[in-house]
Amino acid sequence: MSQLSTKHLLGIKNLTEDDLQLILDTAANFKEVINRPIKKVPSLRDITIANVFFENSTRTRLSFELAEKRLSADVVNFSSSNSSVKKGETLVDTVNNILSMKVDMVVMRHSSPGAPHFLSRNVNANIVNAGDGTHEHPTQALLDSFSIKEKLGDVAGKKVAIIGDILHSRVALSNIFCLQKLGAEVMVCGPITLLPKYIASLGVKVELDVKKALQWCDVANVLRIQLERQQIKYFPSLREYSLYYGINKKLLSQLDKEIVIMHPGPINRGVELSSDVADSDHSIILEQVQNGVAVRMAVLYLLAGSKG
Ligand code: CP
Repeated sequence: MSQLSTKHLLGIKNLTEDDLQLILDTAANFKEVINRPIKKVPSLRDITIANVFFENSTRTRLSFELAEKRLSADVVNFSSSNSSVKKGETLVDTVNNILSMKVDMVVMRHSSPGAPHFLSRNVNANIVNAGDGTHEHPTQALLDSFSIKEKLGDVAGKKVAIIGDILHSRVALSNIFCLQKLGAEVMVCGPITLLPKYIASLGVKVELDVKKALQWCDVANVLRIQLERQQIKYFPSLREYSLYYGINKKLLSQLDKEIVIMHPGPINRGVELSSDVADSDHSIILEQVQNGVAVRMAVLYLLAGSKG
């Protein structure tokens, strides 16, 4: 198989296992390209991509822009905070205006779950979801699985614990879909107030004790407490959260094995992860960021091939 089953990347939920394998294999080729002295290939020379961000981002936005430039695409960046969205323009009008300037693909981050799905039904371009509210963050899950495969040889058969604020996380949902489709076992762990009620129905293990989760897993993917999405208090204080769920060197030293520590970023140092873990040999956090460029190159390249 050399083509994706879809012309948009809206989420992991609707991708096939073949789609996932194709993206990971293509990303491995692009990782080799971006480690060459000349990091660019002409693959998307005739394509123009707009990065349309309605929410803050450091990693995803820069990673997409680098991926696009390394594929030789033309790139325009749109940020809602200094745009005519502030004057009342709708999402569809905004994107249709951008597309009328001969743009082929839209990479969009939006705070509303389902915004990229809505856009894909209402405009004529490939849409890539760069994170939609608390729903999905497909390229993050793909780069996480790529990083696990690179570190441990495969995703199939591995035990991955996703630890932290599952309730407000788009990374958690995309990771659950992606890891399960690739054959991993998945556990979620966090305070009961930060675990959605439906979560066990997705076929994941649920654990409230972080020590047990760490002892079970091969990989701990640690998530940030997303205070910006919390309208009420889900735990007494950040200090208390850190005391019960924060991962530090002492906790890891009590395990009878070595585990891999991942985090999608941005890290709240001293809350969900101590610096002595984030910066340790256990951590592959910066490898995840590096792999993000290759994975996004693969996604854009494959979607451009499925255009029309
Ligand atoms: N991991 C991630 O989505 O980071 P940004 O919010 O900085 O893009």
